[in-house]
Amino acid sequence: MNRNAIGMFDSGVGGLTVMKEVITELPEEDIIYLGDTKRFPYGSKSKETIIKCTKQAIDFLLTKNVKAIVIACGTATSQALDEVKQIYNIPIIGIIEPTINYINDKDNIRSVGVIATAGTINSKSWEKNLFKMNPNLEVISKACPLLAPMAEEGWTENEIAKLTIKEYLKELHKVDSLILGCTHYPLFTKAIEEEMDKDVDIINTGKVVSKYLKRFLTEKSLLSTNSKGNYDIYLTDLDCNFEKVAKEFLNLPIELKKADILN
Ligand code: DGL
Repeated sequence: MNRNAIGMFDSGVGGLTVMKEVITELPEEDIIYLGDTKRFPYGSKSKETIIKCTKQAIDFLLTKNVKAIVIACGTATSQALDEVKQIYNIPIIGIIEPTINYINDKDNIRSVGVIATAGTINSKSWEKNLFKMNPNLEVISKACPLLAPMAEEGWTENEIAKLTIKEYLKELHKVDSLILGCTHYPLFTKAIEEEMDKDVDIINTGKVVSKYLKRFLTEKSLLSTNSKGNYDIYLTDLDCNFEKVAKEFLNLPIELKKADILN
C-alpha cells in the first residue's frame, strides 16, 4: 500500500482525458497533474525539446513525492519515454504500450488507424510497435496538427470541429480500430464517432492506460488506502483557457496552482 499520489502530465488539457479515466478506475488515488501550458503545443516541437520538457515535468512531479508517473501525452510518450525510463528510478507509464497490449488481445484485427500530432506521427513510434506486434497489419497514420489547439480553445463540438475531423478522417474509414494517439482527441469523441463507421473501435488511450495502471499498482502493492482521492492541478502558465475547459470536462471544482519550471 502506498498513499502517495500518481503524477501525470501533458502540454495542456489533453492529459485530463487520461486523468478522468484514472479517477473512474481508481477513485481512491490522489492525482497531481501538470499542464505545461507555457510550452504548448508539444506536437510541433523537436524530439530534443520534448525530452527536455519531459525531464522537467518528471523532476517537478518528483518534488511532490509521486509513486508513479503517467505520461498523459502521446507526443512525450513517443519521443521521450524510452529516454526517461533509463534515467529515473520510478515507474513511468506512457500511452503506447498499454494500447498495443489492448489491441493484441483483440481478434481479427487487420487494419489500424492512428491519428496524432505531427511529432508523434513523424516519430513512427505507433507504427514500429504495431508492426512488432503484428507485421501483417495495415497501419494508416494521419497527423492532425489543428486538433490539439482547437481542444485548448474548447472548440470540440462546433461546426469547425466537425469539418476539421471530417477532413482528417477522410482516408481512415475502413480501419478496424482507430487509435486516438494524442490525448487531446477524446475531447472530439462525438465528432469522431459521427464520422467513422459504427463498427470501428475508437480507442481512447486514457481508458486503456487507466486499466493498465490499476493492474500495475495492484501487482506492485502500490494501491492507496485513501477513501477518496484528492486532485491537484499545476500549470506552467496560468494565463490560458485551461480552467474553463477543465471544469466543463472533469465536472469537478478545481483550483489551479502555478508550477515553476525553468525554461
Ligand atoms: N496531448 C498531447 C499528445 O498527446 C500534446 C498535444 C500538443 O501539445 O501538441 O500528443
